[in-house]
Amino acid sequence: MGEGTVAPARVAPVRPRRVRPPAATATVTLTVNGRPVEATVEVRKTLADFLREDLGLTGTHLGCEHGVCGACTVLLDGAPVRSCLLFAVQGAGHTVTTVEALSTGETLHPLQEAFRRHHGLQCGFCTPGILMSAYALLRDHPHPTDAQVLETLGGHLCRCTGYQGIVDAVLAAAGTAAAGTVGAEPPTG
Ligand code: FES
Ligand code: FES
Repeated sequence: MGEGTVAPARVAPVRPRRVRPPAATATVTLTVNGRPVEATVEVRKTLADFLREDLGLTGTHLGCEHGVCGACTVLLDGAPVRSCLLFAVQGAGHTVTTVEALSTGETLHPLQEAFRRHHGLQCGFCTPGILMSAYALLRDHPHPTDAQVLETLGGHLCRCTGYQGIVDAVLAAAGTAAAGTVGAEPPTG
């Protein structure tokens, strides 16, 4: 560049504004705790988030959010599933039962009552998921063996109780006439 000439000012390149595409949504119909539900949801939304955020069913807890802790367990067509690993759209056409369906008004479900009596919970974070798995166990095996109870609880992490109170509660509830029934769940099989 010759003497006396001025270097042109550097101009930063103009980057095109990134426009986020609108989130893909889908309309789903399903039955939740005995009630028909129709909703439009983001296709990437998990069933757990859908239950908590869209339906206000915050009894379903989220711990690890990758299928390990079991806190988010709900029943899908009667079978315990990790709702953090399912998309809400996968629930379309199915029946979902959450912990909110267990009690009737002020009356605790026999399992909940047994957990209360046998100190089966402390902070209660893991409890909704454990209740749903235990409920399915007692519905299918009204008189489970200790091994069956332990196997069921093996899918759940509890950081508080040391598990003995939970085992005692499930065994205490076993065999009570109403332990395997919940009003909102349709008959299986
Ligand atoms: S939150 Fe779903 S398994 Fe932990
Ligand atoms: S009661 Fe606290 S994690 Fe289980």
